[in-house]
Amino acid sequence: MSIALGLHVLSVVVWVGGMFFAYLCLRPAAVEVLEPPLRLQLWVAVFRRFFPFVWAAVILILGAGYWMFFARFGGFENPNMPLYIHIMQGLGIVMVLIFMHVFFAPYRRLRRAVEAADWPAGGKALAQIRMLVGLNTTIGLVVVAIASGGRYLIH
Ligand code: HEM
Repeated sequence: MSIALGLHVLSVVVWVGGMFFAYLCLRPAAVEVLEPPLRLQLWVAVFRRFFPFVWAAVILILGAGYWMFFARFGGFENPNMPLYIHIMQGLGIVMVLIFMHVFFAPYRRLRRAVEAADWPAGGKALAQIRMLVGLNTTIGLVVVAIASGGRYLIH
């Protein structure tokens, strides 16, 4: 159980912390320093490195999370499942779906646009990614707060 919880939380740190840094530090810095063509190329290079870590994090979060959910909390049959676990699980699935959408739709469009040096199309795709990553960062921070503090507040 301690290994599962450790892997679960470490994966959350990598994913949510990475999004926080990208959204609140790297994004404004890139806007300040780089013209659109270089900025778009930078983001493709950043995502190419970050997204494999996110895929690994997603697999570990779901794997370890549902293992604890069933092995320790009795799964969906448990009528006394704590509310914070339900909220974590539900919002966790929403986060994973948002990430998969980013990966398979706007990120693919961004890569194609950068390959074709189509900067307006790249800018559009990046704007969608920015919005969705902002949303996922917010949900992620809320879920961390609920998952770690929720047991003392809501039952
Ligand atoms: C999507 C399916 C998920 C499932 C089934 C799941 C399940 C669990 C379970 C069973 C625990 C142990 C709770 C306890 O010891 O009381 C846990 C802990 C935790 N989870 Fe999740 N989780 C999921 C997603 C997430 C996500 C997306 C985040 C954050 C963005 C998250 C953050 C945490 C944190 C921070 C803890 C540690 C709580 C603590 O021990 O203080 N989980 N999770």
